[in-house]
Amino acid sequence: MPNIQTKRLELIEFPTSYQEYNYEYIGTSSRGEKLLFTTHKGKSFFLQIIQREADFLIKGDKLSRVSPVSITQNALDGFSKLHNLELTFSNIQSKPENNRLKDDLGVLKNAYHFTKDFNYDKEIWIEVGFGSGRHLLHQASENPHIQFIGLEIHRPSIEQVIKQSKLQNLDNIIISDFDARVFMQLINSNSVGKIFVHFPVPWDKKPHRRVISKAFITESLRLLKMDGTLELRTDSEKYFAYSFETLQEFDKYDIQIRKNHDLPVSSKYEDRWKKQEKNIYDIILTNQELSADKTTTDFLTFDKNVNFSGVKKRFSNHIIRGDDFFVHFEDIYEIDANSGIIKLSLGAYEKCEHKYLLFKDNKIQYFPSVLLPIEQNFKSHQKIKEFLYV
Ligand SMILES: C[S@@+](CC[C@H](N)C(=O)[O-])C[C@H]1O[C@@H](n2cnc3c(N)ncnc32)[C@H](O)[C@@H]1O
Repeated sequence: MPNIQTKRLELIEFPTSYQEYNYEYIGTSSRGEKLLFTTHKGKSFFLQIIQREADFLIKGDKLSRVSPVSITQNALDGFSKLHNLELTFSNIQSKPENNRLKDDLGVLKNAYHFTKDFNYDKEIWIEVGFGSGRHLLHQASENPHIQFIGLEIHRPSIEQVIKQSKLQNLDNIIISDFDARVFMQLINSNSVGKIFVHFPVPWDKKPHRRVISKAFITESLRLLKMDGTLELRTDSEKYFAYSFETLQEFDKYDIQIRKNHDLPVSSKYEDRWKKQEKNIYDIILTNQELSADKTTTDFLTFDKNVNFSGVKKRFSNHIIRGDDFFVHFEDIYEIDANSGIIKLSLGAYEKCEHKYLLFKDNKIQYFPSVLLPIEQNFKSHQKIKEFLYV
């Protein structure tokens, strides 16, 4: 993170600005850590000001960071100029931005894209954990009329596949780095023709981390079209048996099982297992029922304000845990008697979100972005409201 360090700092009055950077207000925690709300051409973020034993560290805040990184660097530079700082360290004049994906960012979509901008005109096929991407790229080139969504959490694999899809002129793949176990909740019912889960990590010692679960199958069946399929391919006999057993809890589907069946393309992992002469199992689940539409796509908001000083009195660092969700109230920052900031982590255990809650101008809102409308977030949001509106 870009940062500057100085021995002396006397804060000037806010709001103030330097060139196109606006420094609006400061929130201060009980430990004296400060968050400076900063804006630049419609983008908002915090700078963190930390007083250490012998000096001050001023840096970009990770949770609200904006892209490109030069915005944070320039904001720190403006801050330094406004305060006439004598810097003892600075990394803000560092090299030009290293953004290897810059040209290709259009293909990598964040989860919010799938809640509002996503186009459902074409049939969708989803590949979960595409790894080296051989299967995804092959399917996309064979089926240009299909919109592919590739889900992968391993950044180098994502970059490699984006590069390959560009080289092959494939314009029917979009990629998300969101955890597949939660991602499915963002997609409309009855819109997907095929879901591929090829060689998922077996997680024999931590089964709760497996992609295949009752919740994942429920969501898959909801978003599959009539006769749409969920294809699991694995070299792990244990994973195969576990998945088969999990499927027994469902009805309204047809199931086909295959052993050592060759596909037109062999993935990197598949090649490895074949060399070791391992068996390869397929379970193909065909959906035979239309599902109801998703209940809501509304974002989670607050419809009434609260007295911030009352919230501050009640605040303590604590965690509320539910069966599949949690809320961690981490820290609180006071701006003035009526406004402030709470730092939170919340949502699904396997895909938690980090947010600030801004209490400002008689409104409460999540920052730097709204909460995704997924079930566990609804539950966390409910707990936050219970805490705020006692
Ligand atoms: C064993 S590799 C298989 C890759 C590829 N399907 C193949 O056959 O070569 C499993 C992949 O799933 C990805 N993965 C694991 N958990 C995931 C999750 N919850 N959501 C999305 N991808 C995940 C991993 O990063 C890894 O690339």
